[in-house]
Amino acid sequence: MSQDVYRLIGPRGNEMELPVHRGTTGPDVIDVARLYGEKGVFTYDPGFVSTGSCKSDITFIDGEEGVLMYRGYPVEQLAAKSSFIEVCYLLLRGSLPTQSELDEFETTIRRHTMLNEGMLNFFKGFRYDAHPMAQLSAVVGSMSAYYHDEMDASNPEHRDIFAHRILAKLPTIAAAAYKLNIGQPFMYPRNDLNYSENLLHMLFAVPAEPYEINEVAAEALDLLFILHADHEQNCSTSTVRMAGSSGANPYSAIAAGISALWGPAHGGANEAVLAMLREIGDVSQISKYIDKAKDKKDPFRLMGFGHRVYKNFDPRATIIREMCYKVLEALDPEDKPLFELALELEQVALKDDYFKEKNLYPNVDFYSGIIYRALGIPRSMFTVMFALGRSVGWVAHWREMISDPHGKIARPRQLYVGEGKRDYVEIGDR
Ligand code: SDX
Repeated sequence: MSQDVYRLIGPRGNEMELPVHRGTTGPDVIDVARLYGEKGVFTYDPGFVSTGSCKSDITFIDGEEGVLMYRGYPVEQLAAKSSFIEVCYLLLRGSLPTQSELDEFETTIRRHTMLNEGMLNFFKGFRYDAHPMAQLSAVVGSMSAYYHDEMDASNPEHRDIFAHRILAKLPTIAAAAYKLNIGQPFMYPRNDLNYSENLLHMLFAVPAEPYEINEVAAEALDLLFILHADHEQNCSTSTVRMAGSSGANPYSAIAAGISALWGPAHGGANEAVLAMLREIGDVSQISKYIDKAKDKKDPFRLMGFGHRVYKNFDPRATIIREMCYKVLEALDPEDKPLFELALELEQVALKDDYFKEKNLYPNVDFYSGIIYRALGIPRSMFTVMFALGRSVGWVAHWREMISDPHGKIARPRQLYVGEGKRDYVEIGDR
């Protein structure tokens, strides 16, 4: 079959055929790698709205149809039938595990949850109110100091131990950051608990009395981690791939991803949604805030709405909304009015022409914060929870990038619009 091409017709009869690559599904890509070398021009795509940065076989999203698949498995099926630790295996290894493979993998993760004891000293240096995302990024970055010399990225065994340490230790670091914020003693992990149960234990147990895990809370967390596990080339994952492409220590690349996730346009949105709902306060104020979101002169945006890829419902938001009902029924927190406000805000926005015309729907961040709050997790920890789920996606993409035999350092170009050449002027002559 002949190679499909796009024919580029430039100025002054400048023409070029650009090869088209077709994936398993989703949009084709136009290969422009030869463009600068042969035509001396760059492509231009701020924010990479129409740019594919790599080949990947990890996650597929169809923004028009609201589809999300991890290694080909629809996220709805994984949410209904799998567990976060099994999804971690799937994303890292590419296939669903047998029972013995899963047991071995889970045992490995459980046995890497403790931190090097010296790492706990970092928490003594932070102010008591240090944002937990700042603490997470700093302490994960410090892992490159603990594990630098023995980290040979070309060694598959080293890549595995890196993956296990990130998956296993991030919850321990996250919980330690929270304990610092509330002035309680750090709780060591327990290997007899699964991933989500152990996190609840490290967050909410205290040495002074027994702590009973709420199974609905553990189930809700596990679901949220599955839904946040990966999302192809989002901002933070692309940051991890870019930082890792220079050969930087992978722990530092993950720390870079954590920092990118923190922004309110990305993973910080779940924290911003709760602040927004608090500010709106009551259903009677919804139309005022919808008008603010539509007003170009007003910087206010409806947080938790809109998405670069999904121009339909974010499939994760739909699943999380259902879990909200279950959690609020079971835990009966005083936040039911907040959930009712969010439901009403969604209904009003979805009927509004502005949101319909721009295909703005609730995204993964719109409802997740309501569940976190119902579990007793404070707003400042919401993006940390996002990072725990996304950690496996970051690691899977770093491994894919570092294993690419044709991999290159990521180094985009630009359209220069600054000053033309000019000569230095002595300070006395300025
Ligand atoms: C995540 O990439 C991923 O996959 C991310 C993520 C993941 O799993 O990794 O899914 C997680 O980050 C979800 C998104 C969380 N962010 C928010 O909820 C913040 C609020 N949403 C937006 O800021 C915005 O929708 C983005 C950042 C999510 C997407 O922005 P884009 O793709 O750059 O789109 P845009 O900013 O160009 O918006 C298109 C239009 C604009 O209007 P015009 O200039 O065309 O007139 O829609 C408007 C925007 O002003 N718009 C909104 C809006 N989002 C977009 N108007 C009001 N409220 C909003 N929330």
